[in-house]
Amino acid sequence: MSRTLSVKRFTGAQVYGHLPELARLRITVFREFPYLYDGDSAYEERYLRTYTDSADSVMVLVFDGARIVGASTGLPLADETYNVIAPFREQAIDVDRIFYFGESVLLPEYRGRGLGVRFFHEREDHARSLGRFDLTCFCAVDRPLDHPRRPAGYQPLDRFWEKRGYRRQPALKASFSWQDLDEDRESPKSMTFWMKRLRD
Ligand SMILES: CC(C)(COP(=O)(O)OP(=O)(O)OC[C@H]1O[C@@H](n2cnc3c(N)ncnc32)[C@H](O)[C@@H]1OP(=O)(O)O)[C@@H](O)C(=O)NCCC(=O)NCCS
Repeated sequence: MSRTLSVKRFTGAQVYGHLPELARLRITVFREFPYLYDGDSAYEERYLRTYTDSADSVMVLVFDGARIVGASTGLPLADETYNVIAPFREQAIDVDRIFYFGESVLLPEYRGRGLGVRFFHEREDHARSLGRFDLTCFCAVDRPLDHPRRPAGYQPLDRFWEKRGYRRQPALKASFSWQDLDEDRESPKSMTFWMKRLRD
């Protein structure tokens, strides 16, 4: 591992050239619990197209020298797919005022040095700079406490997110479909949203 880590932010169409790297990182990191994602390039292409189609999307990349070792994304909620927007519409929440965060993925050897916190700062700065958002949000997969693949000593990220000012919204749930490592086809996964006010 080199010591020359750098963090760079890309927006809108600039994101395009980095999608293959993001797909690679997502497939590597999301094999871990609680995601257990059995990565597939067709799913990645479908999923990542929403970012290239959004003029105001953001991608924060961490480089170790020339190698990308971490990534974090976001886009206006209104530019997301129907299954992400629908829970907000059902509760009569104005989706045009919300910026949505996709994922944060870091290779394990780069964790625990503040990059996860930096990902939130960069994406919140980007959302603030667009001037039309009051809230930021993301969603996390719901897995039972007794899930057979939950590693011993696994620590959920809830405290990390709470420290960043996010609060779990049990009334806001979405369903994403992907193929778990021990499944032979995609199945729906329950996701719960977390939200934070961008301004006091
Ligand atoms: C989420 C992730 C990006 C965090 O990155 P990171 O660089 O290790 O986080 P940081 O170093 O900024 O840690 C910030 C704080 O969170 C805590 N933290 C980080 N990961 C944690 C975990 N798995 N469980 C509990 N606390 C955690 C750190 O102890 C630190 O606490 P402090 O502020 O009290 O010192 C990284 O763990 C990761 O890639 N995880 C796998 C993918 C994932 O689950 N992504 C999130 C959903 S998309």
